[in-house]
Amino acid sequence: VPQERLSQLRSLSDVRIRAFSVGRPRVTAADLCALLSDPKSGRLDALALEHGLLLPPHLEEPLELLGETMGFVVEACLALQVMGAAATAESLKGFVRKRGPAERRDGPAPAPRPAGPPPPQPLPPAVDRLLGATRGLWTPPASLRKISDLLEVAATPVDRVAGEIDRDPPLAGELLKAASLFNGTKMSTVKRALVTCGYPALRRLLGPAAVLARLGSPPPESAFDPDAFWSHSLLTAHAALLISRAAKLGEHETHFMAGLIHDLGRLVVARLLPARSKALREAEAGGTPRDAAEKATLGTGHAEIGACVAGRWGLAPAIVEAARHHHDDPATLEQQPIPREAAVVAALCSLSRDGSRIADWEPFLRLPASRFPEIRLQATRLAEDSLPLMRGSST
Ligand SMILES: [Fe+2]
Ligand SMILES: [Fe+2]
Repeated sequence: VPQERLSQLRSLSDVRIRAFSVGRPRVTAADLCALLSDPKSGRLDALALEHGLLLPPHLEEPLELLGETMGFVVEACLALQVMGAAATAESLKGFVRKRGPAERRDGPAPAPRPAGPPPPQPLPPAVDRLLGATRGLWTPPASLRKISDLLEVAATPVDRVAGEIDRDPPLAGELLKAASLFNGTKMSTVKRALVTCGYPALRRLLGPAAVLARLGSPPPESAFDPDAFWSHSLLTAHAALLISRAAKLGEHETHFMAGLIHDLGRLVVARLLPARSKALREAEAGGTPRDAAEKATLGTGHAEIGACVAGRWGLAPAIVEAARHHHDDPATLEQQPIPREAAVVAALCSLSRDGSRIADWEPFLRLPASRFPEIRLQATRLAEDSLPLMRGSST
């Protein structure tokens, strides 16, 4: 590894790790891999899982701040940036060949994973009244957990996972769309998506894709405008991805999917309550603000509905909180202990919706405001390019 480049990165990373750790009760290897990832070379944890050097529990253990283990993780992340993914993968493979794949460490046995999903949280009364009886909305298919479990094990053969996903054509279709949008290149087979994205990344795309597959297209009588909906959602998703890459913080796939489905509640209403969706559209056209119209027509808002559905489907907390908080103003959002990805999505949704000031949202984006016009321009182009893909099966 070229030592000069490495020592430059070392001093920069030290500052970033200290800043990142302030106010956090714990920092894990997964946090560091996200913090010190580089768009070109990717993330160390993804490579380490893929090649059997680590197991998921290792990445979630809290690390002593600037202790020895943290030092190893940081050095490995920086080495990846200098060497690149291919050389690092070779090095990891060599290590595993010599020393064997990772095993769970000695010590207290980890708590056994519950056999089924955790018991569902009760729905807020207004959501329950509105949609509680809708069969199929609140229960993810058993195959979702099965596929997710297969993707968690790096050694699962690609054909086995691909076969399982292909048994559910709507899910396969949505997953291919998500993978194509995320990678900026059209993927026509699940196997190709698995190989291109890697298991950990595809696992992060899986849950939201499954929700979209289950929902399908809103009927014409809902007066739903799919182009307007997906233009806004794609713009938010692409901008969130660009920001996560530029700021090198958080999970890229989660930023993207949180942006893509932050308005999930609107899709749910249009698909399942078409008459009310039409009434909302008419109220808005008549000048009633959207949130007041929703309160009158639904008794709740699309943010709450989307968050409830995302929560029941076991989507990442960042995605659930992005759905719940994306209409919060900066002062309210500041009080919420929500994942970074959710705050970024709330900022971007607001900026694209009502022209609020970038300066108000700068702290949430963790990028200088001067970078934002370029990101917005690029995201707008990407959203325009990817809109035809969203005109496919789901809307
Ligand atoms: Fe919204
Ligand atoms: Fe939005």
